[in-house]
Formats: sequence, C-alpha cells, structure tokens
Amino acid sequence: MTDSLACEDNADLHAFIHQQIEKKGGIPFSEYMEYCLYHPQFGYYMGSRQRIGTHGDFFTSSTVHRLFGGLLAKQLHQMWQLLAEGPFTIVEQGAGDGFLALDILDTIKREYPDFYAKLCYQLIEISPDNRRRQQQNLAEHQTCLQWCRFEEVTPFDGCFLSNELVDAFTVSIVEKHDGVLQEVYVVNGDNGFGEELRTPVSEQIQYHFDKLGVAPVEGNRAEVCLYAAQWIRSVAEKLRRGFVLTIDYGYPAAELYAPFRRQGTLLCYYHHTANDNPYQNIGCQDLTSHVDFTLLQQWGEEQGLDCLYFGEQYRFLMGLGFIEELVKLQAAETDERKACALRMTLKNLILPDGGMGETFKVLVQGKGVATPVLLCQRSIQEISLESLALSS
Ligand SMILES: C[S@@+](CC[C@H](N)C(=O)[O-])C[C@H]1O[C@@H](n2cnc3c(N)ncnc32)[C@H](O)[C@@H]1O
Repeated sequence: MTDSLACEDNADLHAFIHQQIEKKGGIPFSEYMEYCLYHPQFGYYMGSRQRIGTHGDFFTSSTVHRLFGGLLAKQLHQMWQLLAEGPFTIVEQGAGDGFLALDILDTIKREYPDFYAKLCYQLIEISPDNRRRQQQNLAEHQTCLQWCRFEEVTPFDGCFLSNELVDAFTVSIVEKHDGVLQEVYVVNGDNGFGEELRTPVSEQIQYHFDKLGVAPVEGNRAEVCLYAAQWIRSVAEKLRRGFVLTIDYGYPAAELYAPFRRQGTLLCYYHHTANDNPYQNIGCQDLTSHVDFTLLQQWGEEQGLDCLYFGEQYRFLMGLGFIEELVKLQAAETDERKACALRMTLKNLILPDGGMGETFKVLVQGKGVATPVLLCQRSIQEISLESLALSS
C-alpha cells in the first residue's frame, strides 16, 4: 500500500462501515467496496460531486473528444442497418454526465436522420446525481430518451452499450497462499480499517475460477467480479436481437491472472491521482479494477451472446475511421497551434502506455444476428496512405 494521502474522508460512511464490521465480525472486501461506492447516502457515486473531467477524479474517452461518440454512432448506425432498419433501442448503462450519449445522439441526428427517427435511447443510472446531470445535458434529445432501472428494461432489439461501467462493479479479492485460495475480509483495526485473509473462499468464487480454468498463482493477489457474470447474463436476457457493446480497461482472464500481476489491478482515483489504498478518502475516491473479458464472453455465450469482435480501443476506433476523421478535423482548423493541440488530445484515445488505446478494450457480442462484418473490424492495412500523413 502507498502511504496515506488522505485529504478527505466521509466520517458518516466511515462510522457506518465500522458498525457493520463490528456487527458482522468482518466483511468481505466486495461488501466494503459496495458501501464505499454505492451506499445510498454516502457512497462515492451517490452524492453530489464532480467525478469526471478536469475538476473531477478521472477522465473517460468521451470527455477526451467528441469524436469518440461520433465514431460509436457510426457503428451503431451499421447495427441498425443489420437489424433491417426497424425500431432500435440503445440502452446505455452508467452514462456518467451523459456526454457520450450526447455525442452519439448529436451525430445520429445530424448524419443519419432516418435512424434518429427510429431510435429510443434508454439510460440506466444508479446515481441520482449523475441522472440529474444527464437530464440537464441531454435536454435537447428529450423526445427519444427514457430513464429507467435495469429491472424495468423490457426485451428490446438494438444495442446495450456501456463505457467504463464494468470496472466500477464491486469485486471480491483473493490471495493464494500454501496452495489455498483465501478471501480478503475488511476488519476494524487500531488505526482505521485492516485486512484479514479467510478460508475457504465462497463457493461462487471457487466455481468462478474452476469455470475460467485460470487462477492466481502462489503468493498473488487478484480480484474476482462475480457481479459482472450476473450482469452479462441479465443483459443477454433483456436483448431480444442485436448487440452488446462493452468498452472498458481490462484483459482476457489468462492475462488478468498472469503470474507477473502479483498485486491485482485494484486502483483508486482521487483528483486525477491513482493510488492503491482503498482505506483512505473513504467515499471520496473512485475504486476500480480491470475487467475480465473472458468472463463476459463465457457467461454471455451461455445466454446466446456470440463474440463478434474483441480488440484494443485503438483498433476499434481506427476501424471506424479515426484517422480519416482526424485529418478532416485538422484540415478544418486554420490555427496551427490549435491543430497541434487537437492531434495531441486525440492521440490519447489511441496511444498505448499511458493513453487509452491499448489497455482499453472493446467487446461486441451479438444475439440473433449471425456473424456480420462490422465496420470496426476494418483492418489498419485498409486505411489509405494519404490519411496516415500524421505529424507530431
Ligand atoms: C466511470 S463512470 C463512466 C461514465 C461514462 N460512461 C463516460 O463514458 O464518461 C461509471 C458510471 O456508471 C454508473 N454506475 C455504476 N454502477 C452502476 C450500476 N450498477 N447501474 C447503473 N449505473 C452504474 C456510475 O454512476 C457512473 O455514471
């Protein structure tokens, strides 16, 4: 753990968790994380605070540039065509401030008016504060918007979309010692919260690793997102025909649980600084872990979701015309300094090592749509040479 950087702590949440631990004699890490992020009054996502953007704790691709949503709109348009251009529902879960939805809807309205006329856009949002922000930011698209709870989504044809949702789901933490998997419990310590390793791990955790066929090696710590398995099953049940498009940072299971990843991937974000101490800034920092994309594919397949595309965000965006659009945007910018700033900003979406290009992955699953060739599958070799004339 890093040294404590605590600058802010929600005392009410701290006291609440302390009581729960006292009452139950310790709580699994997943329960601790649930309180930190989603306690109805004090959880990080539930209160009124700026979480995304310059004055928040982290950036997302949709806050980097509007082109991200614009390119997604292009892919969604093709999905609509593949479903014979009938009524189409986009269900977006975890839309943050609503800017991705805004960029998608603005592009569809401008570029594909026939599609816009057939579109219903449903938002599922756990945070009352974010729902308020979404309602404000999306006011001009009121006629095709609906907010609902996950359980209220009725079977639909269309696309279930999320960007950086699954990394916010609560996780259990395990460690392997002497050949035995042990689960991390949170307990009350002399100086705040502490951890205790307990055996046996729950049946669900054991089942999860047996099913994956991959597990952490001796001495390693790792996260398990049981909630993601339930979630993808429920998404598949709601989708009558169409697509599930999931964008997030993560890896296939073999890479996520690789021997070199000794401490797992849990990270906390507070004012654009990442730390690995979930026991500080309680209720005031985001807690996330990398997504296990094998789990989403495996559990999805059992519910009739075929994997149509899985790849890095940079490949996905390039397939959809990222380079060509960048060249057009640059050509329209007469001020060279602004054109350079634009290039630097947009590079964040595709660059590996610190950018969002490589760790971020895109999974497209389909139900009842056979195996179409999606626009995002266009290979980088097919991009014309002139459009690759990128500098600085
Ligand atoms: C990291 S933010 C992603 C924001 C947004 N998608 C973007 O691209 O900027 C996570 C979002 O998921 C929401 N969220 C987390 N768990 C959720 C759940 N179970 N149901 C609905 N929304 C959820 C949060 O409130 C927040 O809006």
